[in-house]
Amino acid sequence: MMPLRFILVGMGARSRIWRRVLDQHPDCSLVGMVEHDADRLKAALMESPDVAVGAALDEITEQVDADIALLCTPPADRHDQIAAACRAGLAILAEKPLADTLAGAEAHVAAAAAAGVPLAVGLNFRYLAVTQELKKLFAPSRLGRPEFGRFTYERWRDGHQPHLNKYPLTMRQPMLWEQSIHHFDLMRFVYDAEPVSISARTFNPSWSMYEGDANVAALISFEGGIEVTYQGTWAGNWKQMGFEWRTECRHGIALQSEMFGDLAFAMREDVELSPVDLRDEEPWFDDVWGFLEDFVGHFRYGTALPCTGADHLKSLRMVEACIQASARGATVSLHEL
Ligand SMILES: NC(=O)c1ccc[n+]([C@@H]2O[C@H](COP(=O)([O-])OP(=O)(O)OC[C@H]3O[C@@H](n4cnc5c(N)ncnc54)[C@H](O)[C@@H]3O)[C@@H](O)[C@H]2O)c1
Repeated sequence: MMPLRFILVGMGARSRIWRRVLDQHPDCSLVGMVEHDADRLKAALMESPDVAVGAALDEITEQVDADIALLCTPPADRHDQIAAACRAGLAILAEKPLADTLAGAEAHVAAAAAAGVPLAVGLNFRYLAVTQELKKLFAPSRLGRPEFGRFTYERWRDGHQPHLNKYPLTMRQPMLWEQSIHHFDLMRFVYDAEPVSISARTFNPSWSMYEGDANVAALISFEGGIEVTYQGTWAGNWKQMGFEWRTECRHGIALQSEMFGDLAFAMREDVELSPVDLRDEEPWFDDVWGFLEDFVGHFRYGTALPCTGADHLKSLRMVEACIQASARGATVSLHEL
């Protein structure tokens, strides 16, 4: 059977990992690359000389047959890319966040549905070993149902580093759209619960290099009575990363102390934490690989499409709720959005 044929749109930082993954996957092939920066396109072509290239997705769909448009572009202004993929009948795999406004993301989901093309969002963090083992800890036979948690992500993110994208430096809410979206998605995924209401405050410390708010503080209530206290920042004022996600459950606690690992649990009376064994993996690669396996499975074996655009809207509503809650100084019900 012919491998699934991908056209990669946007040859920036994120495209590198996707090119590696597609290159190694036996059931995927890269047939086209789209980039409007001529130098970047030239550099990409040097590495993959047999691939069709152009400055717009329409150009490439006229030249080559393909199955999937993989969007690795900044989340703003994806309208033309989505429209071109829909016109060509290509399935869409978009990097998170699907858009930089809730209305924009809703429009993309509606456009894909109207065209009858599947739309998935690459939420690779769900596929980390630590995430999957954390989710299992909440089984009734183990820690039991979560009731409250504390999620802290404190990072000094130097957005001027050459290998990083530059558009977040001027976004209005860079932390929320670019980073917290992963955290909110993870909460929904591991707790298997939908958010009900959010109070939040976003702000920007004086030393932040971001024009928009680098800090988010939120209280998030999930259905079934799970309360999460969240603090996320890209302007934590120490270059050492701080990550801690502690969840209090019926019988004890789960503690994730690193973004890519270090998972442990304790029952109420335990003196020490018990570490959870995690499979060896290469962060950023194996998680994308795991997602891609699921994505490919949908086309090959008819399994459910992972991380659908419609599901992603529920995490994006959390972002929007934080923005509105901070602006209005109020608690925002997710049903209002
Ligand atoms: N899932 C993750 O863990 C993860 C990690 C990093 C980035 N991302 C996401 O990946 C996406 C891309 O981020 P990045 O870091 O690669 O950004 P980037 O700025 O480094 O690269 C984006 C590229 O897209 C090109 N581009 C912009 N508009 C285009 C268009 N209409 N047609 C063709 N090319 C266009 C730009 O010229 C640039 O080369 C973002 O949505 C980001 O949030 C996800």
